[in-house]
Amino acid sequence: MKVAVITGSAGLIGAEAVDFWAAQGFLTVGIDNDLRRYFFGPEASTAWSRRRLVKTVPGYRHYSVDIRDRKAILGIFAEYSSDIRFVLHTAAQPSHDWAAREPLTDFSVNAEGTLVLLEATRRHCPEAVFVFTSTNKVYGDAPNRLPLVELATRWELDPTHPYAERGIDECLSVDQCKHSLFGASKLAADVLVQEYGRYFGLKTGVFRGGCLTGGGHSGTELHGFLSYLMRCCVEGRPYTVFGYRGKQVRDNIHSGDLVNMFWHFYQNPRVGEVYNAGGSRHSHCSMLEAIALCEEISGNKLNWNYTDTNRIGDHIWYVSDVSKFRSHYPDWSYRYDLPATLAQICQGWRQRREAASRPGAQAAFVPSEWTEGFPAVNLQESLVASS
Ligand SMILES: NC(=O)c1ccc[n+]([C@@H]2O[C@H](COP(=O)([O-])OP(=O)(O)OC[C@H]3O[C@@H](n4cnc5c(N)ncnc54)[C@H](O)[C@@H]3O)[C@@H](O)[C@H]2O)c1
Repeated sequence: MKVAVITGSAGLIGAEAVDFWAAQGFLTVGIDNDLRRYFFGPEASTAWSRRRLVKTVPGYRHYSVDIRDRKAILGIFAEYSSDIRFVLHTAAQPSHDWAAREPLTDFSVNAEGTLVLLEATRRHCPEAVFVFTSTNKVYGDAPNRLPLVELATRWELDPTHPYAERGIDECLSVDQCKHSLFGASKLAADVLVQEYGRYFGLKTGVFRGGCLTGGGHSGTELHGFLSYLMRCCVEGRPYTVFGYRGKQVRDNIHSGDLVNMFWHFYQNPRVGEVYNAGGSRHSHCSMLEAIALCEEISGNKLNWNYTDTNRIGDHIWYVSDVSKFRSHYPDWSYRYDLPATLAQICQGWRQRREAASRPGAQAAFVPSEWTEGFPAVNLQESLVASS
């Protein structure tokens, strides 16, 4: 039986990958302890997603294990051993701002957790393909030094600059810039993943994401801006825009398009490879443009305010150049553009809202088994029953 191990399996990218790999005939093993709830509170919990996977994905096995728990992780990898053909590592502390609150937790999850998974792969399934979801924050605030021009609704790159046509490529320096502690811990992990390829010969791929989003995102103020923006439109919550006159530009890739990139890499893997992976010039918007689109799609006016202070290390303009990936995998292409992605996000929030309003539905959002902190895990106990 071919096994795919997916960390962060209840998160946006992890859950999309579980669905995808299960549909390709793999036994999917998910590792996720809902630490997102610890980071961002009950409303950002991914327990609802885990419940869906356990209920609907045939054969799905969920381990409520912390990726930092070496013993438990090595135990899972030993159990499935060389049946493991694919490891997708998406579990992370994903926010700049949160990282500054607890730098030790951030680094231990993002950097040490990644090392534990790489080592488990090397020891138990060295032939497996290992994919890591890195981030464009590894380039720190270096993109803010690009020559930008201010337009009516957005910042844009000077049209004569080499990045203007396709976006930022993988050659941008990761040095001598401000990363935020989150960017630094992800960069440490990013380099480790490359090194396990170059030094040990593992088939590792690093995907440096722009904004990743989709209907399955549990967006919250500190992470998942498009999802949270749409949620505020749908639910009439106030939204705060931080700095750059609301003209900061992001590229946005749908989780399905990203997972499809991983599938192409899996089928024809390389060693220690790095790709920028985002919406590119195909799908990007400024904050002001995103607000207008969300209002149009949801049919609701957003109640938003502006504060002049930008988030530390935040990009003013970031668009990923995906042409390196395209040149290695010419059969890959986007399936979602920005309006289609936002329409799905809007529908997702409406469905979850509707489900939450049903009698007794609260349990789907606040898992009763949750305990604060990082409890020691017993492997047998942590395997969530799928019946
Ligand atoms: N969403 C984005 O815009 C974005 C952009 C660039 C990079 N990324 C990266 O992509 C990856 C996936 O992002 P996402 O949006 O799916 O994140 P997500 O927060 O939706 O999902 C991550 C999941 O990992 C789990 N998790 C966190 N720490 C864990 C731990 N120590 N042990 C076990 N499980 C743990 C969380 O509970 C959550 O369900 C992350 O590595 C993130 O840094 C995301």
